[in-house]
Amino acid sequence: LRDRQAIIAIDGPAGAGKSTVARQVAAKLGLVYLDTGAMYRAVTWLVLHEGIALDDECAIAELASGCVIELAPGQDLQSPVQVWINHHDVTQAIRSIAVTSNVSAIAAQSAVRQALVKQQQRWGKKGGLVAEGRDIGSHVFPDAEVKIFLTASVQERARRRLRDFQKQGQSDISLEQLEKDIAERDWKDSTRKVSPLKKAPDAVEISTDGLSVTEVTEKIVDYYQQRLSQF
Ligand code: DC
Repeated sequence: LRDRQAIIAIDGPAGAGKSTVARQVAAKLGLVYLDTGAMYRAVTWLVLHEGIALDDECAIAELASGCVIELAPGQDLQSPVQVWINHHDVTQAIRSIAVTSNVSAIAAQSAVRQALVKQQQRWGKKGGLVAEGRDIGSHVFPDAEVKIFLTASVQERARRRLRDFQKQGQSDISLEQLEKDIAERDWKDSTRKVSPLKKAPDAVEISTDGLSVTEVTEKIVDYYQQRLSQF
C-alpha cells in the first residue's frame, strides 16, 4: 500500500498540447493540475518587472527562493491556471511574448530550478496530481505511477501556437517565425546543463499529431487505470 495518492507526470516540448491534455486528465480523474511551466514563467515575469538583468544569477536566485507563488484552477477547463507571484496577478502577463522569449534563460538557472522543484515536491507530497512540465517524470516525481512524454511535430506545434495567438487577437506573427522559435526553444530546453528536457526511461511516448484532445486524454486515462490495477 502506498502512503500517497497517484501522480501522473506529463512532460514534453512546448506546444505538444500538454496543458490542455493535463487539465482534461485531471478533471476526469478528480486530481489536482499542476502547471510547472507557469511557475518558471512567473519568476521570469518578476525578473523583468524588477528590472533585474537576465544573467544576474545571484539576484535571480534570491528572488526565486524568496518569492511566493500561488496557483488556482482557471475559470473553466479551457482557461489556463490563475497565477500570482508575490501577490501580483500574472495570469495573463506570463503568456506575453516578453515572458515567453525570456523564460528559457531563467529556467536554465540551477538555483531557480532548485527553488521551484522544492515547492513542487511539497505540493506533491500527498499525491493526487497531474503535474506537467519538462522534468517531472525524470526529476521532480521520479516515482510517479504514470509517466507520459507528449510530443508533436514542430509544424503541428507551430500551427497550434498560431491559432492561440490569433484567438488573442495577435495576427502579426508568421508560421515560419513560430516554427523557428519552437525549434530554437526545443534546442535550448533539451541541451541545457540543468535538468534538460528528456524522456524518462519508463515514460510512455504519445505523439499528438492528428489526435484530438479527447483522444489523447482517453489514452492517458486508460493507461492510468491499467497502471493502477498493477499496484
Ligand atoms: O510549458 P511552458 O511553455 O509554460 O514552459 C515555459 C518554460 O519553462 C519552457 O521554456 C521550459 C521551462 N520549463 C522547465 O524548464 N521545466 C519545467 N518543469 C516546466 C517548464
